[in-house]
Amino acid sequence: MAAPEAPLITVLGSLNIDLVSYVPHHPLPGETLTATSFAVSPGGKGANQAVACAKLSRSRDHVHQSETAHIRMVGAVGSDTYGSLLRSNLTAHGVDASGVLVREEVGSKTGIALIVVDEPTGQNRIILSPEANHSLLPEQFATLPGPKPDLLIMQLEIPLETVLQALRAAREAGVAVLLNPAPAVMLPDSAYEGLAHLVVNETEAATLGGVKEEELESEAGLVAVAKGFLAKGVHNVIVTLGGRGVFYMNNMGKQGLVPPEKAKVVDTTAAGDTFVGSYALEFVSAKAAFNIAGAVQRSNKAAAKTVEKLGAQDSIPWRDEL
Ligand code: RIB
Repeated sequence: MAAPEAPLITVLGSLNIDLVSYVPHHPLPGETLTATSFAVSPGGKGANQAVACAKLSRSRDHVHQSETAHIRMVGAVGSDTYGSLLRSNLTAHGVDASGVLVREEVGSKTGIALIVVDEPTGQNRIILSPEANHSLLPEQFATLPGPKPDLLIMQLEIPLETVLQALRAAREAGVAVLLNPAPAVMLPDSAYEGLAHLVVNETEAATLGGVKEEELESEAGLVAVAKGFLAKGVHNVIVTLGGRGVFYMNNMGKQGLVPPEKAKVVDTTAAGDTFVGSYALEFVSAKAAFNIAGAVQRSNKAAAKTVEKLGAQDSIPWRDEL
């Protein structure tokens, strides 16, 4: 059991079933391609990040005895077998899934992600059908679902208006927020005001920062885009760069480019989610003594472990596997 004073992280976000085809190359327009293998596995950026927080704060053989943080998932699934599988997978990893609503309406479906993984590079392409994830409406988040967390994590696989409302509610309640705006859409400036952590990849940084992705190939470009987010009120900006490492900058004058970890890449799915989970744990454990450089370095290592295994939640390492 976690000590009663162990920090609480709430993840408000998506739960998807991932239907994954592993292929020798990404299909060309009009091409029918035979997959090498196929897998059905629990995913969704929200659920992956909750599982990452849980696995990285527990040891594999003592899931319910060794936790250093409480993790709570808030989201919605359909009343189908995929929804049950996702909820039971959260529970099996020690995540409190009582905030995951089951939509009982006839025909309600759990979110689905069609994923194609290019075997030579491990790079994925994803098509998301949000389904029950999009049943989460802003009016449900006039106040944050209790108990009050030490950190709220959100992504953008639930409706944008719901995320914006939860941001307002968190601000009013004095709850720190980590926003991972994926998939990226332009956000109003108000979304950045007082935002504790913004974690983006290159594509998301370019979309949200209103710059071309090529501009982020240089450190000067990364500095410029990060300064833009800081000027809008973000406290800590992280840009994950895949094979180029991770860039960070904060409003305390800390800045750096952490080199990539060596890894045998088989599937990059959930690497970003693992980074978020690890970084979130670093933040809630450290509180006032938070060291962004150390948090980014350790989270980069955890994410590198994830790319060496197939799948999303299954590929995230436990604390004792780091
Ligand atoms: O970040 C990876 C996740 O993105 C997958 O698990 C898939 O469900 C998509 O939402």
